[in-house]
Amino acid sequence: MSVVKNKNIIVGVCGGIAAYKSAELVRLLIKQGAQVQVVMTHSGKEFVTPLTFQALSGREVRSALFDLDAEAGMGHIELARWTDLILIAPATANAIAKIAHGMADDLLTTLCLATKAPLLIAPAMNQQMWRNEATQENIKCLSRRRAVSFCGPAEGEQACGDIGPGRMEEPDSLLNSCLSLLSSAAKTDYKKQRLKGKCVLITAGPTIEDIDPVRFLSNRSSGKMGYAITEAALNEGADVILVSGPSALNAPENAELFLVRSAQQMHDKVMNLIDSVDIFIATAAVADYRPVKKFDTKIKKNTDQLTIELVKNPDILTDVAALPNKPVSIGFAAETNDVESYALDKLQRKNLDMIAANKVGETQGFEADNNELHLYWRTGLDKKTGIKSKKLAYASKKQLAEQLIDEIVLLFVK
Ligand code: PMT
Repeated sequence: MSVVKNKNIIVGVCGGIAAYKSAELVRLLIKQGAQVQVVMTHSGKEFVTPLTFQALSGREVRSALFDLDAEAGMGHIELARWTDLILIAPATANAIAKIAHGMADDLLTTLCLATKAPLLIAPAMNQQMWRNEATQENIKCLSRRRAVSFCGPAEGEQACGDIGPGRMEEPDSLLNSCLSLLSSAAKTDYKKQRLKGKCVLITAGPTIEDIDPVRFLSNRSSGKMGYAITEAALNEGADVILVSGPSALNAPENAELFLVRSAQQMHDKVMNLIDSVDIFIATAAVADYRPVKKFDTKIKKNTDQLTIELVKNPDILTDVAALPNKPVSIGFAAETNDVESYALDKLQRKNLDMIAANKVGETQGFEADNNELHLYWRTGLDKKTGIKSKKLAYASKKQLAEQLIDEIVLLFVK
């Protein structure tokens, strides 16, 4: 039975060209057995008529905050209590800004403020509006709230002719996000402890490869992804060991923390601890190479050119996955291009059970609060066939961590 069946869902439709896709979304939710109340903003009604949504949902569309007839039926506070989920699709930059700042100047934003139900936001806007610092600040602010999740935006060609992030996710992807949000809400209700008795080891953050006493090679990993996974595994009742490179974050209280600096130190610590580990998740951005020699004193500027010779570091993940009694081994792939093919290559070559691929760049993946992951895993013994995949849509790293742990539990924990 679908987790959406008999659930009350408010679909908020704001003013964006993607509003036409929300008609299909409402149809899919109704098909799964949900009761859907569509709430449109005034600009939403400029794009699709309320009649379309009324016909699909079987309910009169609500729009005005001060509508005497509607309020006499189910007042806005009652509606806020009635709903199990508010899904805003499309969510404009304006609506996101208002919700982020707790404004309540129309029915939809009032409902967001008055409800205890989770809020799922599907942003849709011009790519420049999405990239604007003000929008990004609002997204950051909302991502920190426990009950707020995002689905999208996707990247691609936009109605205005621009190319970039800002397209609303497709209805089937939004439906999947509703399903996973409602099912994780249901699991929270039943106090999930699906990793009780399991030991999970997570590597996180960057490594630092010293060149001389004041200079080093490293990368921009903040540890946010690995620390979020640590938290999610702890919430499932696991015993968690966190082996972390230098990070400004506070480690989750109940994890057993080991701080390391270099790839070699991280390798040695992990291999030391691995015997008792059931699940190994390698989120750390480990330096592939280190200087052959660390200078004892500061290198002087004596020559026009300086060559620093590098040597390969041990690959922690490969070594763990090659152990005779290897734990479930989950890797990450951070790629700037050809994400899928490089990720699949790592899945096979490093003999992993699953790989979580993310596109990285100057503003993506590393350091950011939000991200998007593509999971790939093998279903058969034949290493070249039977690959399955799942996209975890753009969301906070905290939400992605919960979804990742959820998938790991479903696939690998008996
Ligand atoms: O820390 P954040 O700022 O939140 O950023 C998150 C992240 C971008 C670092 C994270 O999402 C991520 O992608 N982590 C993996 C980064 C990486 O080094 O990827 P890779 O494709 O180079 O390595 C593949 C896998 O092998 C990784 O699981 C890595 O941990 C592991 N590896 C790599 C080299 C090495 N010597 N030992 C390893 O174990």
